[in-house]
Amino acid sequence: MTNRADMTLTSSGFYTSQEAPITTGNPIPTPQSSPPDVLRCAYMELVVTDLAASRVFYVDVLGLYVTEEDEETIYLRSTEEFIHHNLVLRKGPVAAVAAFSYRVRTPEDLDRAVEFYTELGCDVRRDPSGFVKGIGDSVRVVDPLGFPYEFFHQTDHVERMSWRYDLHIPGELVRLDHFNQVTPDVPRAVKYMQDLGFRVTEDIQDEEGTVYAAWMRRKPTVHDTAMTGGDGPRMHHVCFATHEKHNILAICDKLGALRRSDAIERGPGRHGVSNAFYLYLRDPDGHRVEVYTQDYYTGDPDNPVVTWDVHDNQRRDWWGNPVVPSWYTDASLVLDLDGNPQPVVARTDSSEMAVTIGADGFSYTRAPESGGAAETMPEWKQGEYKLGHQL
Ligand SMILES: [Fe+2]
Repeated sequence: MTNRADMTLTSSGFYTSQEAPITTGNPIPTPQSSPPDVLRCAYMELVVTDLAASRVFYVDVLGLYVTEEDEETIYLRSTEEFIHHNLVLRKGPVAAVAAFSYRVRTPEDLDRAVEFYTELGCDVRRDPSGFVKGIGDSVRVVDPLGFPYEFFHQTDHVERMSWRYDLHIPGELVRLDHFNQVTPDVPRAVKYMQDLGFRVTEDIQDEEGTVYAAWMRRKPTVHDTAMTGGDGPRMHHVCFATHEKHNILAICDKLGALRRSDAIERGPGRHGVSNAFYLYLRDPDGHRVEVYTQDYYTGDPDNPVVTWDVHDNQRRDWWGNPVVPSWYTDASLVLDLDGNPQPVVARTDSSEMAVTIGADGFSYTRAPESGGAAETMPEWKQGEYKLGHQL
């Protein structure tokens, strides 16, 4: 972990450095065995309470393709996907996440996953025929942070729908982009994910080195998953990518026309972190879905780590729009391997929500040298923060 004094301040207002081991007072031991070679985030298994309502949201509104479905389960994929699915909707009594699933490079990486997590003392289960349709030999674990992770290699191949322009809609979702997880101790999570072979792309810190969130990758984009500081383990969101910004605007227009504007939680906007254009939606169970486009390539070994100051009001929205409180507080439960909700542990470090607005509720907390001072928030903008209870 690099000290602020050793980072380079860019003309865009954030800092860069080279990735360094992160400091944590409560580390998860590094296993002796090699981690599995993770290719990418591949799919999420979501438990939903009303399968028909979820089908309307994900298929009729968002336009994901149905690979296969039955009375209990729907398997969905994005336009460019050639593996069986990117999202499994399974009917169940409690809305939650059953699996964050990663594809690994070879079948042998599943043996590595078993060894790695067994050494960590985790609940590890392997099913040679797969836990869901379309996926072969798989390993599921409850990881040291309490999340249900899955690793697989073998999968049924299905048709890539990229050339089926006759089926495309204005808001076409073309790829699964990333997961986002809520965890109480971000440095502890980052250190474990580094041991699993993930690299840090961006993070949010304060000057004392408190880490509020970190974005981590295997594929050469900004992230496969992010760790957001908060009460956890919980799932913050699952994200699909579009080709262009206008596809995201089309989703907003469609939701308005369907009188479903309440599904829009935050955005559209431009992130500071990741530089991506974004929109956050809530599905019928409240699971958060992001739609995102135009982040950047990160595949070189010396790709710089980007660090944002937690007091920079442009870090989460480049245009300075406030973040709605529900975005910080709400998240989905996650399940253990028997289907029981995992207990949620409270964050003990400062909350990002609490530190990003002045105590009076009217001012920025960013330092003058990073482009602004408390007294520079225009008077007309103060009400937007105070009256909307926004942050
Ligand atoms: Fe995201």
